[in-house]
Amino acid sequence: MSATPVKKVPIHLQSSQNRLLIKNGKIVNANGITDNDVFIEDGIIKQLGRNLIIPGGTRIIDARGNFVIPGGIDPHTHLELKLMGATSVDDFYQGTKAAIAGGTTMIMDFVIPDKGESLLETYQVWREKADEKVCCDYGLHVAVTWWSEETTRKEMEILCKEHGINSFKMFMAYKGALMVTDPELYNIFEVCKDVGALAMVHAENGDIIVENTKRLLANGVTGPEGHELSRPEEVEAEAVNRAAVIASQVSCPLYVVHVMSESAGNQVSRIRQLKQEGESKLIGETLACALGTTWACCTGKPWSFQAAHILSPPLRPKESTPTHLMHLLQEDGLSLVGSDNCTFTLDQKKELGTDFSKIPNGVNGVEDRMSVVWEKGVETGIIDVTRFVEITSTNAAKIFNIYPQKGCLAVGSDADIVIWNPRKTRVISAKTHHQANDFNIFEGMECHGVPEYVIVNGRVCVDEGELKAVQGFGKFVPTPTHSPYLYGSGEQDGEAELNGVPQPVEVTVDDVREKVKN
Ligand code: URP
Ligand code: ZN
Ligand code: ZN
Ligand code: ZN
Repeated sequence: MSATPVKKVPIHLQSSQNRLLIKNGKIVNANGITDNDVFIEDGIIKQLGRNLIIPGGTRIIDARGNFVIPGGIDPHTHLELKLMGATSVDDFYQGTKAAIAGGTTMIMDFVIPDKGESLLETYQVWREKADEKVCCDYGLHVAVTWWSEETTRKEMEILCKEHGINSFKMFMAYKGALMVTDPELYNIFEVCKDVGALAMVHAENGDIIVENTKRLLANGVTGPEGHELSRPEEVEAEAVNRAAVIASQVSCPLYVVHVMSESAGNQVSRIRQLKQEGESKLIGETLACALGTTWACCTGKPWSFQAAHILSPPLRPKESTPTHLMHLLQEDGLSLVGSDNCTFTLDQKKELGTDFSKIPNGVNGVEDRMSVVWEKGVETGIIDVTRFVEITSTNAAKIFNIYPQKGCLAVGSDADIVIWNPRKTRVISAKTHHQANDFNIFEGMECHGVPEYVIVNGRVCVDEGELKAVQGFGKFVPTPTHSPYLYGSGEQDGEAELNGVPQPVEVTVDDVREKVKN
C-alpha cells in the first residue's frame, strides 16, 4: 500500500486573516506561566514576547485577564464508530466541531477493525471518513482485535512506517467481538516494542464479565443497574495489573485507556511508582465522565437516563471516585484525561438494549472535557493551571510524539490556542451542546472557565464565544514512532528545554527537536 498523500487545504479555506496577535494574556505552558504576547502567521506561532514588531493589518485580540493555553488534545474519541449494533452519532464533522466549541483543537480516534479484517484497509476507511469532515487536526490509534503470525506484525509495521501510526489498542473485554487473549497480548506487545510503538489496553477481565452477566441475567437482573454489577472495580483493577505484567515481560510501554475506578487508578499509580529508571513506562488515562459524574446519579432514575450513562468500564457508584481520580492526576499517578466520546441517542440505546449487556456502550465528553477538568480540578484547588494544561494537552502531545508541534505555546508550534476566561461560567446542557446526541451526562453542571476564543491552526474558530468551525479544515497528523517520552531516557523526554523555571521565550520547535535527538 502506498503512503497516504498529504491533504492540501483548499485555497478558499485558507484564512484571509492569516496574521493574529494575542496581547496581554497569561501564557500557560506545562512548565509555567508568563506574561507574553503571541504573534501567529500562517497557522504557526512566529513570535512570543513583549513589544513585538508585527506587520500592519494584523488582527489583535486582547486577552487581558485571561489564560492563553495550548489547545486541548483529546486522546480518545470514537466518532461514527459501529459498536454493539449501532453507529455513534457524532461523526467527524460534528464531533470535531463540538471539540472546538469546548477548547479542544485535536482529537485522536480509534481505527477498529472486526476480527479477521485488515488493519491497513480499516485504517484507510477511517482516513476516508475523517479527512473530508474534520474541523480540527486529528491523529489515529489502531485497534488490534486479532492476531495472526503471518499478517498482524506486517500490517503493524507498515502502519508505523508509512501511515503515521504509533499506538495500538487492545481490548481485554468484549469477549467474542474485540477481545484478545493473554498470549495474543504478549505477541502484540512484542511487536509494539519492536516497532517503537505504544501499546494501549482496555483493561477489564472479559471472561469474568461474561460469567457475571450470565448469572445476573439468570437471576432476573436485566436493567442498566446490571452493567456495573457485572464488571465491578476489581474486574478492572485485575486487568490493569495483568496487562502491566505482560507488557513488562517484553519491555513494552503501556497506556491504560479510560481508568474509571479508584482501584484501577491506584493500581496504575502503584505500578508506576515501582518502576525503576529504564524500565518500560506505564501511563494511565482517565475520562471526563469519571471526573464529572458517578453511577450514584442514576439511583432511582428512569431506564433511559440510566442507559444514557452506560459505558465500559462503567461509572462507579462510589461518590468519592471523581475526587480520588483527580488527586491521582495531581500526583502524577494518572497522566492525562480523554473523553472516550462515543455518543448514541436514547433511541439507539432503547432499541438495542433489551438487557443491560446489549445497551450500546458510550457517553459524550469531547465538548465538555476541558470544562469538566477545570471545574473539578482547578476550581476545587486540587490542580493548578499548568497541570491543567499538562493533563489536557501537553502529555498527550509528548506521549504520541507530536510535541512541541502540539501541546505547547512555543515559537514554531502549530497555532492551536485557547483563550480561556476563568471568570465566566456556563451550564452544560444537551439543549445547547454541539454534539449530535440528545443527552448530556453532565446536564446542569455549572462550569467556570469558558473558551472565549479557540484558534485552530491560526484560524479563529470560536470568536468571542461564537463557533465558526470549518468542515475539512483539519488534517491528519502523523505520529512518529519511538516517542522520546516513552523510549528515551530521562533527558530525552522533551522536558529538558522547557523544564523548571518558566522560560518560554523563543523556544523553537527546532531547538526542541535538536535536544531530543542528542
Ligand atoms: O463504553 C465505551 N468505552 N465505549 C467505547 C468503546 C471503548 O471501549 O472504548
Ligand atoms: Zn475501551
Ligand atoms: Zn474508547
Ligand atoms: Zn450523571
